[in-house]
Amino acid sequence: MPPALHFDKGLANTIAAETSLSFIDGEKGVLEYVGIDIDSLARHSTFEETTFLLWHRRLPTSQELGEFERELHACAPLPPGVIDLLRGFPRSAPPMHALRTLVSALGLYDPESDDPSAEANARKAMRLVARTPGLIAAFDRHRKGKPIVQADPTTSIARDFLRMLNGVDPTPAMAHALDICLVLHADHGLNASTFGARVTIATLSDMYSAMATAVGTLKGPLHGGANEGVMHMLAEIGSVERVDAYVQDKLARKDKVMGFGHRVYKAYDPRATYLKTFAEKIAADTGNEKLYEMSKRIEAIMHDAVAAKGIYPNVDFYSATTYASLGLDLDLFTCLFAMSRMAGWTGHCIEQLDGNRLIRPHAEYTGPHGVPYVPVSDR
Ligand code: COA
Repeated sequence: MPPALHFDKGLANTIAAETSLSFIDGEKGVLEYVGIDIDSLARHSTFEETTFLLWHRRLPTSQELGEFERELHACAPLPPGVIDLLRGFPRSAPPMHALRTLVSALGLYDPESDDPSAEANARKAMRLVARTPGLIAAFDRHRKGKPIVQADPTTSIARDFLRMLNGVDPTPAMAHALDICLVLHADHGLNASTFGARVTIATLSDMYSAMATAVGTLKGPLHGGANEGVMHMLAEIGSVERVDAYVQDKLARKDKVMGFGHRVYKAYDPRATYLKTFAEKIAADTGNEKLYEMSKRIEAIMHDAVAAKGIYPNVDFYSATTYASLGLDLDLFTCLFAMSRMAGWTGHCIEQLDGNRLIRPHAEYTGPHGVPYVPVSDR
């Protein structure tokens, strides 16, 4: 007898995969990558080392890390065909649309696109993580009518991204701020985009198709767009003096305050703890104290009003101040999320393929039965 089916809208109470990449305990506010708590990684690791950890399920030795970084960074230059392609994109295109198309296009220029071997998939994962920053920066330069800056395979992903985007070297503090955000966003259990990637790769499609699925899924405002929402809110408020009235008004109307609450975390989002301290520093270093002061005041009011319901700042709340302090355009925020999550998405695809089974749930049919077919001439 086939097992009984049960309906679970949104799959909120269904375990749909096994993973050893990241662990979340929403009640206690815990996020671990391969058992290491996210706060330690944010303070001490780098995006490159975290990517190694997610892919190999252990920290590298210093020699392994050096080799991994060299190999990863060497993949960064974009295929010329991809640059030619993006030069034809409308300058008004939203960056996430451009990124989805460009990630897919990378597959056209990879001779190993359809090689399903574990070795080829590991190489493709490297190319995807290493090239995504260049795709985002190149499209941004294109839309602003600026010359595209080529990747520098001798430097870190965070530093090189800011250099390719702005055409000048970032300060070490700026590169470090971005690097922390990349570490914090690299993986997060079976979130919607990761699930999307796993569904695609489970059909034995290819890594590029799976990553195009993931980017398209992340793009939705219920998933990747919240930090942009926080920045819109800060811009709308405009000054510290106006925070109280704005937040109280939102709460009175039962509107959601952006950057607070999380479907999984009912305690302080562990990704926000260190980011909050760091956002203060980078905001001060870059003359954006006002953003931080506004954020701090919003948090204080929200704490008194809704902490009892388990509503705390989430990762998006202070990443918005951090990204804005780095001078990043609002509509690039979700692309930065994708740039980081590429490490988790690719890791999940490789994990899915090890003992793969097609992911194919059922739907509860709610339509009619036995409806006679009426020829078009009689309708
Ligand atoms: N601002 C004010 N109140 C909030 C809130 C917020 N951001 N998030 C939740 N609440 C309140 C709800 O109004 C509700 O109150 P009630 O019990 O009096 O009706 C209670 O907290 C529970 O909220 P609920 O909507 O059931 O939580 P959820 O788990 O369904 O939603 C989110 C989680 C993330 C969708 C929601 O918190 C939200 O929309 N946050 C703002 C957007 C955001 O920052 N998203 C990024 C997530 S990483």
